[in-house]
Amino acid sequence: MSNSLIDTAPGYDQPIAVLKHCHDKIRKQLQTLQNLLSHLPRHGADAAAQQAAQAVQKYFNKAAHLHHADEEIDLLPMLDATAEGEDAVLLRSLAPAILEQHQQMDKDWNIINSQLDKVANGSSAALDASDVGRFVQAYTSHMETEEAHIAPMAKRILSPAQMSILGEAMQQRRGLLPSSGGIALADLRMDYGRASLSEADTLGDPIAQFAKWFHEAMKAQVNEPNAMSVATVGKDGRPSSRIVLIKQYDERGFTWYTNYQSLKGQQLAENPQAAILFFWPELERQVRIEGRVEQTSAEDSDKYFYSRPLKSQLAAIASQQSQPIADRGQMEVHYAAVEAASGDKPQRPAHWGGYRLVPDRVEFWQGRASRFHDRIVYTLQADGSWTKERIQP
Ligand SMILES: Cc1cc2nc3c(=O)[nH]c(=O)nc-3n(C[C@H](O)[C@H](O)[C@H](O)COP(=O)(O)O)c2cc1C
Repeated sequence: MSNSLIDTAPGYDQPIAVLKHCHDKIRKQLQTLQNLLSHLPRHGADAAAQQAAQAVQKYFNKAAHLHHADEEIDLLPMLDATAEGEDAVLLRSLAPAILEQHQQMDKDWNIINSQLDKVANGSSAALDASDVGRFVQAYTSHMETEEAHIAPMAKRILSPAQMSILGEAMQQRRGLLPSSGGIALADLRMDYGRASLSEADTLGDPIAQFAKWFHEAMKAQVNEPNAMSVATVGKDGRPSSRIVLIKQYDERGFTWYTNYQSLKGQQLAENPQAAILFFWPELERQVRIEGRVEQTSAEDSDKYFYSRPLKSQLAAIASQQSQPIADRGQMEVHYAAVEAASGDKPQRPAHWGGYRLVPDRVEFWQGRASRFHDRIVYTLQADGSWTKERIQP
């Protein structure tokens, strides 16, 4: 029910309405950009122009990227995993162009952004009308396509549970919700059976492809879809692996939380190269991801640490992970001491936080009959693009 008196933003329980709301905001920013085109020749980069330029920059430098990521990493892979028949045909015809347009609009924006830098600080009143025209036109028709085809399809075919996963992912991307390890899956049962994997089936970006498979793993209710093995090798060259839970994945990489002084922490300090592995046996799938590991920012680690239950926070402080201890009684003594010292407001210890693996090689493996499996590998290139190739089973 809409309230005509107050223009309230929709909640994340209606993620498609939130995406439409973002489009409305983009339209306002595009209008401001066009207003600037007529304002600047008459008034120069005056205070009003500077303010308008800053507002447009603020929006397209941050919110628009989040909006694109919502579509690329969550919405389109989720639709791709769900659409059937005519919907699937339509989606396959639209999705590559949508992704390509995002890239082109990013490039066009960079050109305008550097002009706006100077308008925003009052040093220039130059804004190229053809650059602005191209950008406005591209965004306008892009949004029209999404509103005419993608949004109605999403509303029609995504289940309430999928909508809630989508809304949750969008909130996490904006730091509005701590990353959760598990999502209610009760009504998401779906039988994928034996599948195949072809070059054409896989998306251009491995993170988007991972998102698609991850959503499918959740829908299929595989056991612990977010559990992954992390393999590390210290300076002695001896590998070690263990299971951790992925807490977030996005354009930046794959994140988990742990103790920086643990064995894995020591090995990563000596050698940041690592490999993570997901195995989803119910779908006969594995994903192998390799790359360099970095620590997450203290801000991100705080956000996750303080979102955990109090007892988990205390346990993280009390445990010198991977160090020997005489017996369980000793551990409980440590825990009680930490609880007494911290009360209900423990501080995240500096040695506890997140690691993010920034991938440079991602392999998707789909089991097939007679061990004639499908393997598609993405490799990061020097210019930041990914190549994709099939390798033999
Ligand atoms: C299902 C599962 C999930 C786990 N999740 C985590 C995790 O998110 N973070 C973590 O530090 N350890 C986690 N562990 C424990 C690790 O496997 C491991 O015992 C611990 O991190 C110490 O490893 P290290 O001595 O190699 O550093 C998990 C274990 C299992 C079986």
